[in-house]
Amino acid sequence: MSASLSSSVSPSASASAPGAAPTQADLLDFVRRTAADAELIASLPLDPEGRTWVRLDGPGGSEAWLIGWPPGTGTGWHDHAESVGAFLTAAGELKENSLATRLPTDGWRTLELSEGVDRERRLPAGKGRSFGRDHVHEVLNESTEHHAISVHAYYPPLPRIRRYSRSGPVLRLEQVERPEDWQ
Ligand SMILES: [Fe+2]
Repeated sequence: MSASLSSSVSPSASASAPGAAPTQADLLDFVRRTAADAELIASLPLDPEGRTWVRLDGPGGSEAWLIGWPPGTGTGWHDHAESVGAFLTAAGELKENSLATRLPTDGWRTLELSEGVDRERRLPAGKGRSFGRDHVHEVLNESTEHHAISVHAYYPPLPRIRRYSRSGPVLRLEQVERPEDWQ
């Protein structure tokens, strides 16, 4: 990532009871409403050389980000450990590759995936998804011309991100990042 700045949006009403932990549905609702804020989306600086981001205040103490993706950029395979989350494309189009399986959370370095666990979703502007704990995915902007912008929210705030490399069916744990690595 190559630039950052701070910003905030007001926490807004949530479907959950006051004080309750935000659910996947609450996070999806938040990213949908935030992506509809044209002024906020337009305020994100875009850099052709790398992703840009702005930290947002998510609902109920969740961690939220507005992220700009130049053409050809992606996250690589990772998960968000114990956090649930949601993200939604605000502009351009993103692709998500994910695994439709729950992996053993710890205690392994390489894992051979069974056949048929790969899923692929195209997320044009206005489309998003929520996900549960230990959701393994990569997100890409495959466009050769257009930036994409997306809104993300996680609860609890990301305790760690596990990064993987992938070679055919073999997933290999490469790195565990902690908040000090991205904040
Ligand atoms: Fe992710």
